Amino acid sequence: MNDLETAPGMDAGQPAREDLSPWFLTLDDLSGPLAWPDFFGNTGPVELDIGCGRGLFLFNTSQEHPERNYLGLEIDYKEGRRGAKRLKKVARPNARVLGCDARRALAEFLPQASVAAVHVYFPDPWWKAKHHKRRLFTAEFTQLVFDVLQPGGELHGWTDVFDYWELMTGHIREHGGFTERAAPDEREAQHHMDYHTSFERKKRLAGWPIYRGRWQKTV
Ligand SMILES: C[S@@+](CC[C@H](N)C(=O)[O-])C[C@H]1O[C@@H](n2cnc3c(N)ncnc32)[C@H](O)[C@@H]1O
Repeated sequence: MNDLETAPGMDAGQPAREDLSPWFLTLDDLSGPLAWPDFFGNTGPVELDIGCGRGLFLFNTSQEHPERNYLGLEIDYKEGRRGAKRLKKVARPNARVLGCDARRALAEFLPQASVAAVHVYFPDPWWKAKHHKRRLFTAEFTQLVFDVLQPGGELHGWTDVFDYWELMTGHIREHGGFTERAAPDEREAQHHMDYHTSFERKKRLAGWPIYRGRWQKTV
């Protein structure tokens, strides 16, 4: 093969992208709805991180809780792959990133009533009124989260945007299937990686207040 030729699947002029499977997969890599024991190779509880970004929460939490499994859902493949690369580097067995629109994954690929917790940290605020319709948290999204949670499963939602906090808590209250529980207090970070997520670090270092919520699926 000369310099101008490319291997199958490689874009001309582009370096081959590192194969990050199984740490980074897309919906096209799945043959259909997931079965968690096959996906993670164990029967431990599963938690979702919706909009996981570059995966700080996935990385730290999967290390702290090797008995649990963590799946990040991220629509921005570049960010998702960054997180997956760090997981691959340490061969982390219990954390994966799925490149996808989380709403589609929840509706079509994830088994109902199957996950122990759903985490939604710092969803994009879409500040301009004309963009509000792009916001992730809607009544439909709240229902999808409810459907995927096991009875007693938990929803964690954090944001630095008060307007978004009101939107999120409003949908959760109106849904009626969740009970509010005590959210964790802020604790001092011991080092640069000792934050819940990258956005939490960014916002706290900039002095923004963080609104933290925890709800349990009760019906
Ligand atoms: C503000 S960032 C927060 C990232 C991370 N949770 C954190 O706290 O550092 C919001 C993330 O949600 C992702 N996102 C937005 N809509 C999404 C969707 N429909 N499905 C999956 N990810 C989505 C964005 O690509 C972005 O990475």
